[in-house]
Amino acid sequence: MQTFESLITNRSTCRNFSDNELQPKEITELITTATWVPSGSNNQPWHFVVITDRDKLRAYSDAAKTAWLGTLEENPHMHQYEEYIRNPEYNIFYNAPALVIVYGNRESHWHVYDCSMVAYNLHLLAEERDLGCCWIGFAHNILSEPAVKRGLGVPEQYDLVAPVILGHPAQKKSSVRNLNPRKDFAINWF
Ligand SMILES: Cc1cc2nc3c(=O)[nH]c(=O)nc-3n(C[C@H](O)[C@H](O)[C@H](O)COP(=O)(O)O)c2cc1C
Repeated sequence: MQTFESLITNRSTCRNFSDNELQPKEITELITTATWVPSGSNNQPWHFVVITDRDKLRAYSDAAKTAWLGTLEENPHMHQYEEYIRNPEYNIFYNAPALVIVYGNRESHWHVYDCSMVAYNLHLLAEERDLGCCWIGFAHNILSEPAVKRGLGVPEQYDLVAPVILGHPAQKKSSVRNLNPRKDFAINWF
């Protein structure tokens, strides 16, 4: 069992998953535990969507890539990924068996922060259980589309905050620890 500190410092993003499925019960447990975060005014303003249908995920991946290609000019942060999104083989969800999407109620002022903490908890819980996890920013365009949200049964006042894939890593994590070193940062002391 890792200490909490080592759990935090050993976590890394996973982009390579085995074919093993995750059971709905396990996903529900992870989400339920992940919601034990502070939230502004204790509003707990989240709404979850879980997608395990691989064809649906592939279709959203293709739609997201097409949409990014059509909007590269307005999205300079995507230029560095152009080669990926032009590659027909590239699945933005890395063939993971589950996508958990955290939506936040925009009527609750701090919803983005609240829901981001839930998303990070999913990362930590995944690490504790030897699962892999990755926040998929590439899916933000498609999953925030009003028509897509309607199709997923998300109430209109909920905005996309965090699409997070979960699954069993293709290789045991301890054998492929590949941590991104942390960059220097400033602390101003007074
Ligand atoms: C808001 C956000 C969006 C991200 N979007 C993607 C993404 O679309 N695709 C991807 O492969 N990784 C994505 N990541 C994962 C980051 O690339 C990763 O966290 C970063 O490289 C640091 O690596 P580490 O998580 O292993 O420490 C995202 C992470 C965050 C927090």
